[in-house]
Amino acid sequence: MKGFRLRRGRAVAVCAVLAVALGGCSPLWQRPSPNSAPPAAPTRSASGKIFDKWCSDCHSTAEGPGSLALQRKYRGNLPAILEQRSDLRPDYVKLVVRHGISFMPSFRKTEISDADLALLAAYLAPSQ
Ligand code: HEC
Repeated sequence: MKGFRLRRGRAVAVCAVLAVALGGCSPLWQRPSPNSAPPAAPTRSASGKIFDKWCSDCHSTAEGPGSLALQRKYRGNLPAILEQRSDLRPDYVKLVVRHGISFMPSFRKTEISDADLALLAAYLAPSQ
Protein backbone atom coordinates (compact mmCIF):
# COMPACT_ATOMS: atom_id res chain seq x y z
CA MET A 1 0.00 0.00 0.00
CA LYS A 2 2.78 2.34 0.99
CA GLY A 3 4.76 1.40 -2.11
CA PHE A 4 1.76 2.01 -4.30
CA ARG A 5 1.25 5.45 -2.86
CA LEU A 6 4.90 6.25 -3.38
CA ARG A 7 4.81 5.10 -6.99
CA ARG A 8 1.65 7.08 -7.66
CA GLY A 9 3.28 10.11 -6.12
CA ARG A 10 6.23 9.69 -8.44
CA ALA A 11 3.94 9.35 -11.44
CA VAL A 12 2.20 12.59 -10.52
CA ALA A 13 5.56 14.29 -10.18
CA VAL A 14 6.64 13.03 -13.60
CA CYS A 15 3.40 14.29 -15.09
CA ALA A 16 3.87 17.67 -13.51
CA VAL A 17 7.42 17.92 -14.83
CA LEU A 18 6.23 16.89 -18.30
CA ALA A 19 3.39 19.40 -18.23
CA VAL A 20 5.77 22.20 -17.28
CA ALA A 21 8.28 21.09 -19.90
CA LEU A 22 5.67 20.87 -22.65
CA GLY A 23 4.06 24.11 -21.58
CA GLY A 24 7.48 25.68 -21.68
CA CYS A 25 7.82 24.74 -25.35
CA SER A 26 4.88 26.77 -26.52
CA PRO A 27 5.32 30.50 -26.94
CA LEU A 28 3.72 32.75 -24.37
CA TRP A 29 0.99 34.02 -26.67
CA GLN A 30 -0.25 30.49 -27.34
CA ARG A 31 -0.60 29.54 -23.72
CA PRO A 32 -4.11 29.75 -22.37
CA SER A 33 -4.38 32.47 -19.80
CA PRO A 34 -5.79 31.02 -16.59
CA ASN A 35 -8.10 34.00 -16.07
CA SER A 36 -9.65 34.32 -19.50
CA ALA A 37 -12.65 32.31 -20.64
CA PRO A 38 -11.96 29.73 -23.35
CA PRO A 39 -12.44 31.14 -26.83
CA ALA A 40 -16.00 30.71 -28.07
CA ALA A 41 -16.26 27.73 -30.42
CA PRO A 42 -17.46 28.73 -33.87
CA THR A 43 -21.14 27.91 -34.06
CA ARG A 44 -22.41 25.72 -36.86
CA SER A 45 -25.99 26.14 -38.01
CA ALA A 46 -28.45 23.27 -37.59
CA SER A 47 -28.43 22.71 -41.34
CA GLY A 48 -24.64 22.78 -41.41
CA LYS A 49 -24.62 20.05 -38.76
CA ILE A 50 -26.95 17.88 -40.85
CA PHE A 51 -24.58 18.36 -43.77
CA ASP A 52 -21.60 17.46 -41.56
CA LYS A 53 -23.28 14.28 -40.38
CA TRP A 54 -24.53 12.88 -43.70
CA CYS A 55 -22.74 14.60 -46.57
CA SER A 56 -19.35 15.88 -45.53
CA ASP A 57 -17.53 12.53 -45.85
CA CYS A 58 -17.94 12.77 -49.62
CA HIS A 59 -18.52 16.47 -50.27
CA SER A 60 -16.65 18.73 -47.89
CA THR A 61 -13.12 18.52 -49.29
CA ALA A 62 -11.78 18.50 -52.84
CA GLU A 63 -10.50 14.95 -52.23
CA GLY A 64 -13.91 13.61 -51.19
CA PRO A 65 -15.38 11.05 -53.62
CA GLY A 66 -18.43 13.28 -54.24
CA SER A 67 -16.23 16.28 -55.00
CA LEU A 68 -14.00 14.20 -57.30
CA ALA A 69 -17.04 12.88 -59.19
CA LEU A 70 -18.48 16.39 -59.58
CA GLN A 71 -15.08 17.74 -60.65
CA ARG A 72 -15.08 15.13 -63.40
CA LYS A 73 -18.74 15.69 -64.28
CA TYR A 74 -18.43 19.45 -64.78
CA ARG A 75 -14.77 19.44 -65.85
CA GLY A 76 -14.00 22.20 -63.37
CA ASN A 77 -16.66 24.57 -64.71
CA LEU A 78 -18.47 24.48 -61.36
CA PRO A 79 -16.95 24.29 -57.87
CA ALA A 80 -16.38 20.64 -56.97
CA ILE A 81 -17.27 21.33 -53.33
CA LEU A 82 -21.05 21.45 -52.91
CA GLU A 83 -21.03 24.15 -50.25
CA GLN A 84 -19.31 26.49 -52.73
CA ARG A 85 -21.97 26.08 -55.41
CA SER A 86 -24.43 28.88 -56.06
CA ASP A 87 -26.44 27.20 -58.85
CA LEU A 88 -28.11 24.41 -56.87
CA ARG A 89 -31.90 24.43 -56.58
CA PRO A 90 -33.63 23.09 -53.45
CA ASP A 91 -35.82 20.63 -55.36
CA TYR A 92 -32.80 19.16 -57.11
CA VAL A 93 -30.96 18.70 -53.80
CA LYS A 94 -34.04 16.95 -52.34
CA LEU A 95 -34.37 14.71 -55.38
CA VAL A 96 -30.72 13.66 -55.32
CA VAL A 97 -30.77 13.02 -51.56
CA ARG A 98 -33.93 10.87 -51.71
CA HIS A 99 -32.97 8.93 -54.84
CA GLY A 100 -29.18 8.96 -54.92
CA ILE A 101 -27.14 9.61 -58.02
CA SER A 102 -24.31 7.53 -59.50
CA PHE A 103 -22.68 5.97 -56.44
CA MET A 104 -24.12 8.50 -54.01
CA PRO A 105 -26.56 6.58 -51.82
CA SER A 106 -30.17 7.60 -51.28
CA PHE A 107 -31.19 8.68 -47.79
CA ARG A 108 -34.41 7.50 -46.14
CA LYS A 109 -36.77 9.67 -44.12
CA THR A 110 -35.74 7.73 -41.03
CA GLU A 111 -32.20 9.01 -41.63
CA ILE A 112 -32.91 12.53 -42.88
CA SER A 113 -36.46 13.68 -42.10
CA ASP A 114 -38.38 15.87 -44.55
CA ALA A 115 -37.86 18.81 -42.20
CA ASP A 116 -34.10 18.20 -42.07
CA LEU A 117 -34.00 17.78 -45.83
CA ALA A 118 -35.73 21.15 -46.25
CA LEU A 119 -33.03 22.71 -44.06
CA LEU A 120 -30.33 20.94 -46.02
CA ALA A 121 -31.76 22.07 -49.36
CA ALA A 122 -32.01 25.65 -48.15
CA TYR A 123 -28.45 25.41 -46.86
CA LEU A 124 -27.04 24.26 -50.21
CA ALA A 125 -29.32 26.46 -52.32
CA PRO A 126 -29.73 29.55 -50.15
CA SER A 127 -30.72 32.09 -52.80
CA GLN A 128 -33.40 30.07 -54.60
C1 HEC B 1 -20.82 8.17 -50.40
C2 HEC B 1 -20.52 9.48 -50.89
C3 HEC B 1 -21.60 10.52 -50.89
C4 HEC B 1 -22.34 10.96 -49.84
C5 HEC B 1 -22.34 10.47 -48.40
C6 HEC B 1 -23.16 12.04 -50.35
N1 HEC B 1 -22.91 12.21 -51.67
FE1 HEC B 1 -23.77 13.61 -52.86
N2 HEC B 1 -22.75 12.88 -54.45
C7 HEC B 1 -21.84 11.85 -54.42
C8 HEC B 1 -21.35 11.61 -55.76
C9 HEC B 1 -20.34 10.57 -56.16
C10 HEC B 1 -22.00 12.54 -56.59
C11 HEC B 1 -21.80 12.76 -58.09
C12 HEC B 1 -22.71 11.88 -58.88
C13 HEC B 1 -22.59 12.16 -60.34
O1 HEC B 1 -21.56 11.83 -60.91
O2 HEC B 1 -23.53 12.73 -60.90
C14 HEC B 1 -22.87 13.31 -55.73
C15 HEC B 1 -23.70 14.33 -56.20
C16 HEC B 1 -24.50 15.10 -55.41
C17 HEC B 1 -25.34 16.17 -55.91
C18 HEC B 1 -25.55 16.55 -57.37
C19 HEC B 1 -24.73 17.71 -57.78
C20 HEC B 1 -24.87 17.96 -59.27
O3 HEC B 1 -24.41 19.01 -59.71
O4 HEC B 1 -25.40 17.11 -59.98
C21 HEC B 1 -25.97 16.73 -54.84
C22 HEC B 1 -26.96 17.88 -54.83
C23 HEC B 1 -25.50 16.01 -53.67
N3 HEC B 1 -24.62 15.03 -54.06
C24 HEC B 1 -25.89 16.27 -52.40
C25 HEC B 1 -25.55 15.48 -51.31
C26 HEC B 1 -26.08 15.71 -50.00
C27 HEC B 1 -27.00 16.85 -49.60
C28 HEC B 1 -25.58 14.72 -49.20
C29 HEC B 1 -25.87 14.45 -47.74
C30 HEC B 1 -27.26 14.24 -47.42
C31 HEC B 1 -24.73 13.87 -50.03
N4 HEC B 1 -24.75 14.38 -51.30
C32 HEC B 1 -24.04 12.77 -49.58
C33 HEC B 1 -21.44 11.15 -53.31
C34 HEC B 1 -21.97 11.30 -52.04
